[in-house]
Amino acid sequence: MWKNSSDSYGNISKILHWMMAIIIIGLMIVGLYMTGLDREDPSRRDLYHLHKAFGLMIILLATIRIGWIFISRPPQLPVDLKIWEIKLAKSAKHFLYLLILVVPVSGYVMSTLLGYPVDMFGLFEFPMLFDKNKESGEIFRSVHWIIAYIMIGVLALHIAGTLKHRLMDGGEKDVLKRML
Ligand code: HEM
Repeated sequence: MWKNSSDSYGNISKILHWMMAIIIIGLMIVGLYMTGLDREDPSRRDLYHLHKAFGLMIILLATIRIGWIFISRPPQLPVDLKIWEIKLAKSAKHFLYLLILVVPVSGYVMSTLLGYPVDMFGLFEFPMLFDKNKESGEIFRSVHWIIAYIMIGVLALHIAGTLKHRLMDGGEKDVLKRML
């Protein structure tokens, strides 16, 4: 079953969700690790390239994922959730959709403004969006890490909510089983 049904996610949504979850968590771990490395560290350059290539893959996957919502509507949340739980779950989800686009786009803009090329595993280079401008690049550097940190917080909330429904509530409220 490729499309979503009224009570479960289809395979396209599941594949997109889990691919993005793994890549985004990896990007956060690598992002935090690589920025702490010494400038002379031999792995620093490779990690930056990997981070940027996988980050750009997220822009593509996020665009497909958002487009897919319009082709195949996601299932409704269970009716026996409390109003505040529905509001919180929906807000966290919408905010995450915004962040999965804004975080990588800010990284791409930062890299081009700072004059660092962005390539896809050495296969081809992405266009430099802007002329080099160190001052604006530094602003986007701050934007990128601030919203990446916000994203870590919202993701933690999203995971905590899902686990609460699975481990404490169970039954209809266990929304994780629709995504597995
Ligand atoms: C969903 C996608 C992404 C996530 C979750 C993410 C996350 C992060 C995190 C957590 C950091 C460390 C922030 C810090 O503590 O300073 C970071 C740094 C960085 N990211 Fe990303 N990133 C993403 C996409 C991108 C993209 C697409 C690019 C560029 C094409 C990029 C370029 C960079 C660079 C260059 C740094 C290092 C900045 C510095 O040296 O201060 N990121 N990212």
